[in-house]
Amino acid sequence: MSAQQMLKVFVTRRIPQEGMKILQKAGMCNLSVWDSDEPVPRAELLKGVAGAHGLLCLLSDKVDAEVLDAAGPNLKVISTLSVGFDHLAIDEIKKRGIRVGYTPDVLTDATAELTVALLLATARRLPEGVEEVKNGGWSTWKPLWLCGYGLSGSTVGVIGLGRIGLAIARRLKPFGVKRLLYTGRQPKPQAQEVDGEYVPLDTLVRESDFVVVSCSLTPDTQGLCDKTFFSKMKKTSIFINTSRGAVVNQEDLFEALSSGQIAAAGLDVTTPEPLPTNHPLLTLNNCVVLPHIGSATYSTRGVMSELTANNLLAGLTGSEMPSELKL
Ligand code: NDP
Ligand code: DGY
Repeated sequence: MSAQQMLKVFVTRRIPQEGMKILQKAGMCNLSVWDSDEPVPRAELLKGVAGAHGLLCLLSDKVDAEVLDAAGPNLKVISTLSVGFDHLAIDEIKKRGIRVGYTPDVLTDATAELTVALLLATARRLPEGVEEVKNGGWSTWKPLWLCGYGLSGSTVGVIGLGRIGLAIARRLKPFGVKRLLYTGRQPKPQAQEVDGEYVPLDTLVRESDFVVVSCSLTPDTQGLCDKTFFSKMKKTSIFINTSRGAVVNQEDLFEALSSGQIAAAGLDVTTPEPLPTNHPLLTLNNCVVLPHIGSATYSTRGVMSELTANNLLAGLTGSEMPSELKL
């Protein structure tokens, strides 16, 4: 391809080299990369995307009408290094006939595994235990000390039995879970595999010992877990969220945790991200907060990067994408 025919691609962050190699080897992209581990400032995003044919972005980049206008009519494809796409203004993108690539499936196992780790860490109070070992609080073996809740014989409720929700359920069942409840927009045939019972949200919240949120963030799920939701949970139950922070009303969660309305919470996602270090949730012993690391294994991030690059190239050449979001 001659220099003039090269297609302009803006990459909003340093990404795993697997994806960069694919883009470089394709020999059709004039690559412009925000070469940092930190998010591209908005002004630089607007500048960088101008005239681009392709945009490779992350979940932290809000791609709205302003960005699309800044890109202009050349923009054919947006490829996000994530399965979640709540950061993309889908209506605006669709209106402009732009295609979208994303990364389903390849991160399902890693995210489900992290969710189980977070659930166990929260329910069995691992961060508190580690802290006590370090600060001298461990005086002897004490029958009433650092007790938590186990999965054996429990009822687990999964909100959103999609790819990740099902993978979480599959992993939790062998711990001796007695009932597996789930809710969503419709029953799922694949729930049979985990003996899943489709129930209304209200039933799930009232009857579960562990409530696990793994749905996508949509106008319907935004703020779903609020005061009313927490007030229905058992005082002994554990709340886990690895979907998106905005599904939860964090003020209401703080109230539920500090008043003893629920036993504990484990969050991999918050609003905002990062959560300010002086946030009230971080003062609570019964709240375990992780920095959005659900998909963070070396191999998963490598494969996500490859897939994101291949989606982008397919969008540029007008061919079939390995993972295209149906708009
Ligand atoms: P899927 O699309 O397979 O699953 C999403 C699920 O959300 C579907 O089962 C859908 O149910 C459900 N859902 C949608 N609306 C509602 C609603 N109103 N009430 C209850 N459930 C609802 O996506 P994935 O499983 O691949 O990913 C899910 C989400 O996990 C992503 O969107 C992302 O936000 C988050 N994620 C977080 C990661 C992390 O690092 N913590 C890593 C990867 C993903 P139905 O089919 O019935 O509509
Ligand atoms: C996603 O892909 O949506 C996650 O939040 C990060 O892997």
